[in-house]
Amino acid sequence: RFEKLWFGASLVLIVAFIGTIVYGAIGPGVAMVGDDGGTINAATVSDGDFEETDNFRSPGVYESSDGEGVDVYIVARQYLFNPGTAQPIEVPRGEEVTFHVTTADVTHGFNLAGTNVNTMVIPGQIAQFDVTFEETGEYGIVCHEYCGSGHHTMAGQLHVV
Ligand code: CUA
Repeated sequence: RFEKLWFGASLVLIVAFIGTIVYGAIGPGVAMVGDDGGTINAATVSDGDFEETDNFRSPGVYESSDGEGVDVYIVARQYLFNPGTAQPIEVPRGEEVTFHVTTADVTHGFNLAGTNVNTMVIPGQIAQFDVTFEETGEYGIVCHEYCGSGHHTMAGQLHVV
């Protein structure tokens, strides 16, 4: 009697997984074309073990190991971006900025207001994408996925200097 129920539930899960993968592969790639003078070079969503990824223990802006541009490690959680909320993220103009964004709890969104830099931040995954900002400026970071009662307060700042 419960077989049908379990079969149905499995089917829903499978569809949900495929949906997540397809969104990860296509969603950010389609969404992210800079309309603000920024150029977005690549976008991927990879599986990442939060605990094993050292730079997430101390999130922030790092010089890229290849000497070009910077890597930014950001942890989203209810209801802040670290860094971003307590202090602005500072990145250099005209250099490749590789964002690595993950979440410590539930699914969040990461959107640079006024641009098409936009990705979901899914537990157990790292959203990774490159952006080259051609102009200096200040951008608001907003969470665009409902993540709980404080969702509407979840925001931050990114400064291109
Ligand atoms: Cu985080 Cu909405």
